[in-house]
Amino acid sequence: MERTTKRRRVLVLCALPYTNAVPHVGNIVGSHLPADIFARHCRLRGYETLFVGATDENGTPTEVAALELGITPRELTDALYQVHRDIYSWFCISYDNFTRTSTPIHHKTTQEFFLEIYKKGFVSEGELRLPFCEKDKIFLPDRYVQGTCPVCGYEFARGDQCERCSTLLDPIQLVNPRCKIDGSIPVWRDSRQLFLELGKVQGKLEQWIGTKKEWKEQVTSLALGWLKEGLKKRSITRDLRWGVPVPLKDYGDKVFYVWFDAPIGYVSATKEWAEANGKPEYWKKFWLDEGAEIYNFLGKDNIPFHTIFWPGMLFAHGGLNLPYDVVGLQFCNYEGDKISKSRNWGIFCERVPEAGLDPDIWRYYLISIIPETRDTEFKWEDFKSKVNNELVANIGNFIHRTTTFAWNNFGGEVTSHRRTKEEEELLAKVSVLADEVGKLLDEVRFRDALARVLSIADLGNEFFQRKQPWKLVKDDRGECEEVIHTCLSICESVAMLIDPFLPKSSEKILAGLGSPSPSAEALGKIRETIRLNGKPEVPFRKLEDAQIERAKSLATKSKPVSDYFAKR
Ligand code: MF3
Ligand code: ZN
Repeated sequence: MERTTKRRRVLVLCALPYTNAVPHVGNIVGSHLPADIFARHCRLRGYETLFVGATDENGTPTEVAALELGITPRELTDALYQVHRDIYSWFCISYDNFTRTSTPIHHKTTQEFFLEIYKKGFVSEGELRLPFCEKDKIFLPDRYVQGTCPVCGYEFARGDQCERCSTLLDPIQLVNPRCKIDGSIPVWRDSRQLFLELGKVQGKLEQWIGTKKEWKEQVTSLALGWLKEGLKKRSITRDLRWGVPVPLKDYGDKVFYVWFDAPIGYVSATKEWAEANGKPEYWKKFWLDEGAEIYNFLGKDNIPFHTIFWPGMLFAHGGLNLPYDVVGLQFCNYEGDKISKSRNWGIFCERVPEAGLDPDIWRYYLISIIPETRDTEFKWEDFKSKVNNELVANIGNFIHRTTTFAWNNFGGEVTSHRRTKEEEELLAKVSVLADEVGKLLDEVRFRDALARVLSIADLGNEFFQRKQPWKLVKDDRGECEEVIHTCLSICESVAMLIDPFLPKSSEKILAGLGSPSPSAEALGKIRETIRLNGKPEVPFRKLEDAQIERAKSLATKSKPVSDYFAKR
């Protein structure tokens, strides 16, 4: 394929989080962390990479949350944007731009996008019956209406989508609708709204999804299911103040439906990055140029919007690139049950930093519960054993015993003179495994990729053990130096390969090894002389029960959103 000769260009996108809540661990493992590992992998391999995101601030979710808190949507989003930003940066999520959908550039991009599809005849006018809560005096957001799913009978289906069978819904389809805020029965009011004629792009969507052979099977089959039912028009405007105003004469008092403007945030965040970096046209390289690959990371409840609704908008608009891969992740539970803020059940990110554990320690465990193919579960017992038995005992131990030995016996400087056949073969094996790590990450298979890194450290540990350098150093210093050089070279590979997974640790270990920064070229190279940069430090320390207890007592208490706002 062309791919091997041309430099790949990859845009990494993570579903934009709402600003009506603070992220929990399920949100981290369910989109931001996998997106980040992938983005870091792409940079490491030398692809032209951009990773952008934003908070999804408009429309009803925010308006209703603000209403419940007795503050303005602006106050809510200003504060929560910062909270989100801080949490992602604490977890080392390497967004090139993490912005907001309340920015002027986003409003402008959304309005232009709309006018284009309007001009092309994909927008129609019509009456929409919307649930109105007489108590709260507002039209209820789709998600704030709850009722029985007409398809599968689930009693707590949301107005936009049934969480059990994933069917996309309009609130009016719910049987026994109730207002989620106060439980009252909404009245139905007619209002004039704009609709996106999704039916007109059904054929194109079908054809496109038919070409997506490498998508995860759960993503494709969900998408095909909706297409089979036949796409209907969907409303794209709402009677609200907070959001992107509809740029049409008779619609001045309306804003766009949040699911209409949010995905356009992917485009505006790219544009904003390009402008801020002095190359305003650069966004086109990702959105217009053929061959750019757009990867969307998202939870399974977002799959319909990214396989049908957003691509449908893109087909209507024309000219912009469709998602190349829609990486739909499953859910992550907590200790045997669904994560729930209201039941205070889960790991809540705002208190995680206080626990004093290194972000990479969290990342290591969280990677093992990225719900790649099925729902996963956070368990403290596993947290401790994964970190202690794999990260510390395998990778950490290998690096530590090798570097300390080199420091104590060779003053930290080791040169290769004549590698044995066995050593050549070992290094060749390592290089094959390193290539596999890259291929697996290209295929968005995080856990398998990390397992390959562990198996490299295993090979190293096994070789060190078998060679008994502590004896060899007395009998044959030259051979011993060769053994340690081989081990140090393997340490360097491991440290580079963990860069997408454990970025801070990778950097620290590589600095200790006096290595160049990780890159595709550096990965394939073996340095004749390796000179340690000072006395080796322990790369990873064992987790003690007391640390786990402390983390548990802090991270399992959710802070009410109201705590972020001064009491008035
Ligand atoms: N805010 C939505 C959610 O949390 C996701 C929006 S994704 C985007 O479920 F595509 F609209 F940006
Ligand atoms: Zn259902």
